[in-house]
Amino acid sequence: MKIVVKLGGFAFPLKINEELIKSFALKFRELHESGHKLTIVAGGGEAARVYINAARKLGASESFCDQLGILVSRLNAKLIIASLNELAAPKIPESLDEFQSLLPLNKIIVMGGLQPGHSTNAVAALIAELIKADLLINVTDVDGVYTKDPRKNPDAKLLEEVTINQLQEILSLNEVKAGTYKLLDFLAIKIIERSKIPTWIINGKNPSNLIKVIKGEKIGTKILT
Ligand code: UTP
Repeated sequence: MKIVVKLGGFAFPLKINEELIKSFALKFRELHESGHKLTIVAGGGEAARVYINAARKLGASESFCDQLGILVSRLNAKLIIASLNELAAPKIPESLDEFQSLLPLNKIIVMGGLQPGHSTNAVAALIAELIKADLLINVTDVDGVYTKDPRKNPDAKLLEEVTINQLQEILSLNEVKAGTYKLLDFLAIKIIERSKIPTWIINGKNPSNLIKVIKGEKIGTKILT
């Protein structure tokens, strides 16, 4: 299968968790060796937010802050490349064209952000659309999509499936600012909707969940398109 994995910001705390990156690398290797074509999109994580907040206080514009977030996501992508060694394409694509030019290498392609104005979730959706991916997996630190933010509302319920409309409603309260494009941003949702990309949101605190969702086990939240 052609699989795009967005590895969320939780995997990139300021104090880098090499063990977590290593355990994801093992899963990526396993998937690659069993014949799946993988693209990994790294989020910006805590460092992106630290840099963005500092630059904002220094007077930077939102698009400048977005660019900082993109740079940090590419640094995180480099860490994944380091953990995958020769299995990964050595270059981080900075455009869809560059991404396509790496496809013949038959390696795992690892990348970060592309353009200001959206999140790495939108990048993952754009890549999934471009290659007609069989699966887009958004790896986060929550079990899936809840009726409300589970960190703030203990009565929030986990949804096994969510329609695009429900998703838009749940996410409508989120801000659209550098560093705060939560879970899925507007562009990501629109791309998933227009190309009916099979999309799952899963908890990556246990990296084995990645294998489970690919095997078709009921896990996380499926987006109905
Ligand atoms: P993300 O917001 O996607 O990373 O990118 P994250 O914080 O790790 O996301 P979660 O937690 O998994 O949802 C970091 C920041 O980089 C900028 C945005 O400001 C974004 O908030 N960015 C990223 C862009 O402007 N364009 C991109 O293509 C990617």
